[in-house]
Amino acid sequence: MADQFTPRVFSGIQPSGGLTLGNYLGAIKRFVDMQAAEFETIYCMVDLHAITVWQEPADLRKNTRELCAGFIASGIDPKQSILFNQSQVPEHTQLAWIFNTVARMGWLNRMTQFKDKAGKNRENSSVGLFAYPALMAADILIYHATHVPVGDDQKQHVELTRDIAAKFNHDYGVDFFPITEPVIEGAATRVMSLRDGSKKMSKSDASDMSRINMTDDADAIAQKIRKARTDPEALPSEAEGLKDRAEARNLVNIYAALSDQSVDQVLSDVGGKQFSEFKPMLADLAVTKLSPISGEMARLMDQPDEIDKILARGSERARELAAPILKKTYEIVGMVG
Ligand code: TYM
Repeated sequence: MADQFTPRVFSGIQPSGGLTLGNYLGAIKRFVDMQAAEFETIYCMVDLHAITVWQEPADLRKNTRELCAGFIASGIDPKQSILFNQSQVPEHTQLAWIFNTVARMGWLNRMTQFKDKAGKNRENSSVGLFAYPALMAADILIYHATHVPVGDDQKQHVELTRDIAAKFNHDYGVDFFPITEPVIEGAATRVMSLRDGSKKMSKSDASDMSRINMTDDADAIAQKIRKARTDPEALPSEAEGLKDRAEARNLVNIYAALSDQSVDQVLSDVGGKQFSEFKPMLADLAVTKLSPISGEMARLMDQPDEIDKILARGSERARELAAPILKKTYEIVGMVG
């Protein structure tokens, strides 16, 4: 069905502080690749999603600018892509309300991210945390986006977006919202903790050694990779040999994603090497690829007014696309027209 719609990419990241290598490889680096392809690209700092758990106002402001700096330092060109923060385009929340009436309680109850984030404290979690996926569907569908690049952990939310679009189209007898494709590709759609290969790399992990932060300096990056948990075996020559070796697989995946190679290509070079030899190679690669980004982020953060101008311009451009789609939605629902 997506054929009738302009190929358009939308994705978002929460400005809740601390971009990790997981965000970079699972999302931002791939956003840059899609910007270079034939798509219109729209990238959003989802501040309304961030406040579904408590954010200090001053931190939210700083983290939004830092995330914007991270996008630009990684290669997102604000002239080419639309870069903005979600709260500044009210059409997102307006469409989200309509989607709150389309999505079913049962659908949202099944969302694993809600279960993880709410934990045992469900009664005390915000209503916004529960309704989060309906807002995410609105983020995507207010632009009729056809493709959504995300890490593996967001797959269920994009599938829910498809369900919401299909139910809306069915209930109102229209073919209005596209059935969006999740784009979950490459070697690093799920970057794992450096301390425990069964856990996702996350900014909320208690141990800073479990993750590489986009603001880490060269020494910190090298030290974290040197100390990363591994097993005593040498590296295999084929991907099959990584099957039951979560930590080894994670480091090879990171190497492959950072060097734009497939896992098999990497293993054909490093198969047979011990980690004592592979880790310094990975550390060098990570420092070469990430240090220029963190340097550029720091430089941009010294120019907050520039960042604010970019975000303001981005939200104007975003509204131009979103407003007619909201208007048409209101007509379909019977509110105007
Ligand atoms: P968020 O802010 O948690 O993460 C942003 C992006 O980074 C990816 N990611 C990872 N990828 C690989 N390995 C990891 N360890 C890792 N950690 C994070 C996430 O998959 C995501 O792509 N709900 C979304 C934000 C959002 C959104 C949207 C995304 C709101 N509206 C519309 C796409 C379209 C989230 O919480 O991402």
